[in-house]
Amino acid sequence: MEIFKTPQETTEYIKSLQGSIGFVPTMGALHKGHLELINKARNENDFVIVSIFVNPTQFLPGEDLDKYPRKLEADLEICKRAGVNAVFTPISQNIYSEDEISIKAPKIKGYILEGFFRPRHFDGVLQVVNKLFNIVKPTRAYFGKKDAQQLYLIKQMVKNFFFDLEIVPVDTIREKDGLALSSRNIYLSNEERKRALSISKALKRAAKLSTTTTDIEKIKKEMLEILDVDRLQYIAFVDNDFNYINKITHGNTIILIAAYIGQTRLIDNIWL
Ligand code: PAF
Repeated sequence: MEIFKTPQETTEYIKSLQGSIGFVPTMGALHKGHLELINKARNENDFVIVSIFVNPTQFLPGEDLDKYPRKLEADLEICKRAGVNAVFTPISQNIYSEDEISIKAPKIKGYILEGFFRPRHFDGVLQVVNKLFNIVKPTRAYFGKKDAQQLYLIKQMVKNFFFDLEIVPVDTIREKDGLALSSRNIYLSNEERKRALSISKALKRAAKLSTTTTDIEKIKKEMLEILDVDRLQYIAFVDNDFNYINKITHGNTIILIAAYIGQTRLIDNIWL
């Protein structure tokens, strides 16, 4: 497996490849959810490239940039075993310059929900993903459905900037008890982890209820009864294009939750 630190080396390598390229952008601390993206990329492409970069521009002041888990050695081992062809793991100076042209998330859908509670977060995500796409020039890029709004905005960027690549959404991987895998789960104490389960339980209950009612207020009320979180930021019902809805349509509804358990902010969702 090749390991590259600079965009130039990576681009040179990419030029030498003949065949389709599956790309999995990550911030490292890889878990089974990332492995799912990698496996799908490997099954659908001739080559698989993974990037590992804790992107500073998508963290707000006061967020967990400094303590975000960094496990490069273990991550590289996971990639090697999963049959990844090359890992691009740059330092910030290789990605960003002093006075940059920046990319702005769309004014509405980039600033609701996650974008409301983490303003400018998606500017940073889109900025770095744009750069990564230009460096890796993938045929297909793989993103988890757990970050549903990110997935939607990246698809939008691909459309708006005429990138010639396919975005492949990948289902959320969960622990046996339902907890959605996230690199941030390691912050949870045992007691917090138990309460974090109320998030996936509320979503599961909502999905079940939606088979007998389309009434969002009724579903929301039951979700609130199940949730055992310290600070709920939102329960939202949107269609697949992130328009708020007031009635559920199967095949075109996502229910999303963001909440704090202790100091840890968790997000999860279910696609109906
Ligand atoms: O989902 C993530 O891990 C990050 O937001 C991404 C897409 C790698 C950009 O830094």
